[in-house]
Amino acid sequence: MSIDFIALPAQSIHGQVRVPGDKSISHRAVMLSSIASGITHVEGFLCGADALATMQAFRAMGVKIEHQAEKVTIHGVGREGLRKPDGMIDLGNSGTAMRLMMGLLAGQNFDVRLSGDASLCSRPMARIATPLASMGAQIDLTQDRAPLTLKNEIRAAKRLNAIHYVLPMDSAQVKSAVLLAGLYAKGRTCVTESGSTRDHTERMLAAFGCEIEINNKEICLQGGQKLIAADIDVPADISSAAFFIVAAAITPNSQLRLNHVGVNPTRTGIINILKKMGAQIDFENLRELGGEPVADIVVSGGPLHGIDIPEQWVPLAIDEIPVIAIAAACAQGPTRLSGAEELRVKETDRIKAVVESLTAMQIDCQEAPDGFIIHGKGGEPGPVFSAAEIQSYDDHRIAMAASIASLRANGPIHIKDCDNVATSFPDYVALGNSIGLNLQAR
Ligand code: S3P
Repeated sequence: MSIDFIALPAQSIHGQVRVPGDKSISHRAVMLSSIASGITHVEGFLCGADALATMQAFRAMGVKIEHQAEKVTIHGVGREGLRKPDGMIDLGNSGTAMRLMMGLLAGQNFDVRLSGDASLCSRPMARIATPLASMGAQIDLTQDRAPLTLKNEIRAAKRLNAIHYVLPMDSAQVKSAVLLAGLYAKGRTCVTESGSTRDHTERMLAAFGCEIEINNKEICLQGGQKLIAADIDVPADISSAAFFIVAAAITPNSQLRLNHVGVNPTRTGIINILKKMGAQIDFENLRELGGEPVADIVVSGGPLHGIDIPEQWVPLAIDEIPVIAIAAACAQGPTRLSGAEELRVKETDRIKAVVESLTAMQIDCQEAPDGFIIHGKGGEPGPVFSAAEIQSYDDHRIAMAASIASLRANGPIHIKDCDNVATSFPDYVALGNSIGLNLQAR
């Protein structure tokens, strides 16, 4: 039996909250500390199913990992210390785990088979296998997807070759996979991106003592480097904070403080977009922790207006588009998104799912191949969305975004199949209710 959410209208959003740890940084913390020399202490780890799947995977490869709530201790085994797991590694719903691990594991000397749930096994993996194959890796995919096997044993003692890879799409996962494989390659591996994608891999590699050169859009590292354990303080995930930022921004008489949020500029597209729509958002106590910028974010409710979302901001807000669509529906005038075809290969086709859920809530919107147009109904306070039943397609961010619409709805929003909210945001319902949402999980 799966969990549904019933989200009821509510008055205002207020108070302060710290949302769970950053998912991207939590995955990388386990991966890099596992192949480092020494012991890494992690604070603020995300205890969501995705990051826990990565943790289990490295345990299965012989890494001792102690875990008590958000505190995790990883006993690194060094760059050659991973061992062949007993069976297949199941990465659940996590694209980041699978794609980054493909890169990291391509240079090992044992075979490893990776799989996941139906959504993960339907997502494209050739985008990772192609550059890795040109480094000499042999990866058997199932029709360009998982389940997949990294056949490292037949490469025997031959090391991977370094490559210079020009990213064909804006993807931090592809960039990271090539860089992680590059750690095990002969020579200097470089990746060139055209836009900007999240740079947590580069920052964390540097924090672990890796020499990594970044010249504008080109990122290079020399193979054969050893990583040295370094403690990590994981900030709250701006992608989870996003739901509550929009909740406060669209609800009159709201004021919310989100503490200790990661505000790495490669992740703050949502702030740029909401501010351009007229939202009142401030960063307080801006500081740097372990190479990552962190701030407290203060948001107030107020009128929003529709915008054309600049394409260069899309990769910086790629996971937040479903909830930005909710803000767009509450704004006055149209909001246009383009250059976002990557949304079609996320946990579900998010362009289709967003347009379908807004349409169910009586918002006028149209799908485009690479985005959408939403005709905002906002301007005046009062209900914007009609009560509706929403299909989440088992996508955590579609489910949470629809729940935020309840704040400006004329009746209950019933969201189907919300179990996967636990992949990125454990305790979403309780934390949401603590700031004024009216959510029930059934
Ligand atoms: C992630 C990168 C993004 C993002 C995903 C996490 C990461 O994917 O959508 O949720 O941690 O590197 P792409 O790099 O494929 O755009």
